[in-house]
Amino acid sequence: MENKIVVNGVNKSFKNHHVLAGVDLTVSSGSIYALLGANGSGKSTLLKIITGLHDMDTGEVTVNGLELTRNLRQIRQTFSLNSQTSTTDGVLTGFENLQLIAKLRHLPDPTKVADDLLNQFDLTDARDRRVAAYSGGMQRRLDIAMSLVGEPEILFLDEPTTGLDPKSRNDLWEVILDLKRRGKTIFLTTQYLEEADQLADQIGFLQNGHIVATGTPSEMKKLGGHSRLQLILPNTDAIESAVKLLSDFDISEQEDGSLMVNLDAGVSTSLKVLTLLSTHNIPLSSFQVLAPTLDDTFMQLIKGA
Ligand SMILES: Nc1ncnc2c1ncn2[C@@H]1O[C@H](COP(=O)(O)OP(=O)(O)OP(=O)(O)O)[C@@H](O)[C@H]1O
Ligand SMILES: [Mg+2]
Repeated sequence: MENKIVVNGVNKSFKNHHVLAGVDLTVSSGSIYALLGANGSGKSTLLKIITGLHDMDTGEVTVNGLELTRNLRQIRQTFSLNSQTSTTDGVLTGFENLQLIAKLRHLPDPTKVADDLLNQFDLTDARDRRVAAYSGGMQRRLDIAMSLVGEPEILFLDEPTTGLDPKSRNDLWEVILDLKRRGKTIFLTTQYLEEADQLADQIGFLQNGHIVATGTPSEMKKLGGHSRLQLILPNTDAIESAVKLLSDFDISEQEDGSLMVNLDAGVSTSLKVLTLLSTHNIPLSSFQVLAPTLDDTFMQLIKGA
């Protein structure tokens, strides 16, 4: 697949604060790239650099094969940035906001552009209401609709679903996946690991100013470790006996009282553990095998910092 965005050795400091220290990443055409990282790790800063809003100190960014700083005007035609703060005007209606952007972008039929986007984002009923009266989810949808005026090839979305309820978040995920199906390249940042898991083709984890881990969601999950067997026992006697009995295994007691057995050695460990408990008549309320999650990876990477 062709590379749409290539970031090479990008450095950025604010006064003495070295925020980005050699960021390297590539985003393939027509894919979704999710940038993860703790608060203040520099996600928005990187996004602003790639979209030409911030200068970098050193490094190189190419978009569509063109070097960013020398071709910013041309590159700007191909993308839109949806920043962390809303860009809509609350005094205007949803329709007026979209129409205004379409006019600013000199599109031939601003009214049609606005109405088509309202329709696509399920906002036709709210067309003539002032945006200040929209719910958070509606505003977010309108925000994304705004960034689609003029059909840019590349979309930068800075925390697109922050603050949304689960239903609105899911709806927006559908919208984002649909944009990908229509061939758009999407670069997003998120605090939600599940979001990266659901949407991303490639995840990059930003920490200490550079990408410390990168891969597909399943590759990233493997970094977080291993599957575990969770045992729920009915009382403290049972827990104590089980801990003693299973002392040869890599086992830990959780805050909630359950026992967690590391399955690094293979899933057959589960069978051995359950057989042992059963032959020693230790009562078990329930058990489950937990697959590694992105949360595990996230915690692991943060701990390693
Ligand atoms: N214009 C600026 N001037 C000075 N410092 C800045 C500026 N913009 C960002 N920073 C600092 O750079 C660091 C990274 O900020 P940035 O907003 O990129 O983080 P982030 O990963 O997007 O965080 P969040 O998850 O909270 O959105 C922070 O310490 C921030 O205070
Ligand atoms: Mg940010």
